[in-house]
Amino acid sequence: MGQRDWQGGEGVVKVLGAMAMAAAMAGVAGQILGLSPLPDLLQKNGKKKKKVRVYMDGCFDMMHYGHANALRQARALGDELVVGVVSDEEIKANKGPPVMSMDERVVMVKSVKWVDEVIEDAPYEINEEFMNKLFTDHKIDYIIHGDDPCLLPDGSDAYAHAKKAGRYKQIKRTEGVSSTDIVGRMLLCVRDRPNETPVHASLQRQFSHGHSDKGSSAGAGTRVSHFLPTSRRIVQFSNGKGPRPDARIVYMDGAFDLFHAGHVETLKAAKAMGDFLLVGIHSDQIVSAHRGPNHPIMHVHERSLSVLACRYVDEVIIGAPWEVSKDMITTFNISMVVHGTCAEVNDLKNGEIDPYAAAKEAGIFEVIKSPRDMTTSTIIRRIFANHEAYKKRNEKKVKSEEQYYHSKTYVNGD
Ligand SMILES: *[C@@H]1O[C@H](CO)[C@@H](O)[C@H](O)[C@H]1NC(C)=O
Repeated sequence: MGQRDWQGGEGVVKVLGAMAMAAAMAGVAGQILGLSPLPDLLQKNGKKKKKVRVYMDGCFDMMHYGHANALRQARALGDELVVGVVSDEEIKANKGPPVMSMDERVVMVKSVKWVDEVIEDAPYEINEEFMNKLFTDHKIDYIIHGDDPCLLPDGSDAYAHAKKAGRYKQIKRTEGVSSTDIVGRMLLCVRDRPNETPVHASLQRQFSHGHSDKGSSAGAGTRVSHFLPTSRRIVQFSNGKGPRPDARIVYMDGAFDLFHAGHVETLKAAKAMGDFLLVGIHSDQIVSAHRGPNHPIMHVHERSLSVLACRYVDEVIIGAPWEVSKDMITTFNISMVVHGTCAEVNDLKNGEIDPYAAAKEAGIFEVIKSPRDMTTSTIIRRIFANHEAYKKRNEKKVKSEEQYYHSKTYVNGD
């Protein structure tokens, strides 16, 4: 026993020694190259490691699990992740109007479990002044961005200053999803309506030539998700912990399609009603049966990842049934089943059984008031209402994404 303790102690000393050496060497290298001093790895007492703070910025408009995954990767490069959310004005000036407001985008970013702090109204370009503010006021050690180029309207690199200062780190963009891709899928859900307007047709053309398969018999609007769900990605997004023995388990189910601020705030309210929030993600077939043949827009694995990234969620059921059965309540020891007031389909179809009948009978069903009047349809309507602006914005994006997928090579790493 004593010997083990002694060995453990020596191990710690060795590690600390190596860290001090690394810090010293990094400092020397920084001086030689004339770079800003690199972050101290050791605090003054020489015992505790200083927390490495990393910064990532973005528009986070129509946030999806690809964004969440980037934030997860960024967080892994440090101990604390600070996220800058670009202001509405700056997005408008650089890319065209955002679909989601600053407030909605901030709710989404703050909800991601790997995010520690948010800086609102961040600039699109990290100029020298803002960069120094990050280093001094926000104690940022590194600025992180994906491997996709981020160019300013004049063609220059938005991260040039951070790179020059030697405080830039890159993550790999790996997920096969983008906002352009999602808008393309949204258009499919109105394509088959008989009263299709010229606006729909024009939007359809805009978004449909992304990376759809030209030879596909399904036609020009067909979009194939590039995302292939792997068990590793699901593990990375999971908390990996079950409920404590005495935990009150709250169950909430739904489609959670185009995961948005309304979902986040309802999940927050649901979590507050117990200790462990279990979320049932309805299967694609169930969503389709209730909302129409082109729904859901995101498939069940994509929807599950978005929900898993949310800090209020403890676990998800990937492909939950429509009906919350008595058996399910027992299996998961569910002590409360909740449903939001603002849901896409609250009315039951004629003759349909009430999915919450068992919960109601057991006296464990509760309706919670949705804090925000927002549904998946709200987002689809916004896209249509502002179609001219989005058309412009996506003309460029579709091209650069085509290029990205065309020249994409294998990347190693998470
Ligand atoms: C089931 O949940 C209740 C809370 O509703 C809790 O008190 C109980 O310990 C749980 N049962 C088990 C076996 O964990």
